[in-house]
Amino acid sequence: MSTPKAPAISQHYQDSINLFLEQEINQLPATAPKLKQAMHYALLLGGKRIRPFLVYSVAEMLAVPMSHVHVVAAAVECIHAYSLVHDDLPAMDNDDLRRGRLTVHREFDEATAVLVGDALQSLAFELLSRPNPLFTATQQLQMIHCLAQRAGYQGMCGGQALDLEAAHQAANLEGIVGIHQLKTGALIECALHMAGIATCQNIEVINQLRQFGQHIGLAFQIQDDILDMVGDPKTLGKTPGSDAQANKSTFTTCMGLAKTQAYLQDVVEAALETLQALPFNCALLKEFVYYNLERNQ
Ligand code: IPE
Ligand code: IPE
Ligand code: MG
Ligand code: MG
Ligand code: MG
Repeated sequence: MSTPKAPAISQHYQDSINLFLEQEINQLPATAPKLKQAMHYALLLGGKRIRPFLVYSVAEMLAVPMSHVHVVAAAVECIHAYSLVHDDLPAMDNDDLRRGRLTVHREFDEATAVLVGDALQSLAFELLSRPNPLFTATQQLQMIHCLAQRAGYQGMCGGQALDLEAAHQAANLEGIVGIHQLKTGALIECALHMAGIATCQNIEVINQLRQFGQHIGLAFQIQDDILDMVGDPKTLGKTPGSDAQANKSTFTTCMGLAKTQAYLQDVVEAALETLQALPFNCALLKEFVYYNLERNQ
């Protein structure tokens, strides 16, 4: 497969979501200043914003203004940021570094990190459910349902539970794929699904977006596993070798680098194939597929 040079995720999308999130956090009352400061730290200091990027890309491909989907992009990013804060806790992956800085429980304390996760999760649903003239009540309910399902037991949390259970075990390929699809794929698929709902797409298009999300979600976590093995600490922003240290069952720890890379190529082919079925200009989504192959953070 020829791999065109992929641009980094455009600064424009990152700036847009950062501005929106900053405003949301800043306008919270100063009831619990330490928690507010820690939420700001977890949500705003770094992050590639790939889930918002996917939401904005769908909007752009369908000629819907970015401002129309800010709340959708922000909601999925809030769930993602919360998942990272809890993922880093001593009871889970016990990591000290995230986005080039101390993890929330190391910069603040464990109790605050637990509450940051809880509060960011609530914020996600507050954003989606607040009165919004851009969406019908049905659209809002559908997006809330989608995010609740993919963030919880049937998605990210379920995957995180299996990820922890699989440590120190000899997991097989099928088991690892299942974990990755849930812990990371579900939320990425959800970003694309919610973007389809927000832009009033029919069920066929939504299903195609979801299928693309499933493939690229898996590809994204495979690359995360690769970077954990071979990433450069200077660019990665987290501590490489964390998976091996914790005896995690990941693609690279179980299959080695070469087989993982070959498997990733297959998943990428499948992702590109699903894009061909979409009757729109999918250039941005395609760029994202290549970006994931080349990213170093
Ligand atoms: C890291 O996610 C954890 C995974 C689910 C793979 P990202 O690589 O999107 O992390 P940030 O948001 O850019 O820091
Ligand atoms: C995390 O997977 C997935 C989440 C739901 C947060 P990892 O544990 O591999 O993510 P990193 O490597 O710490 O970012
Ligand atoms: Mg983890
Ligand atoms: Mg981790
Ligand atoms: Mg990882």
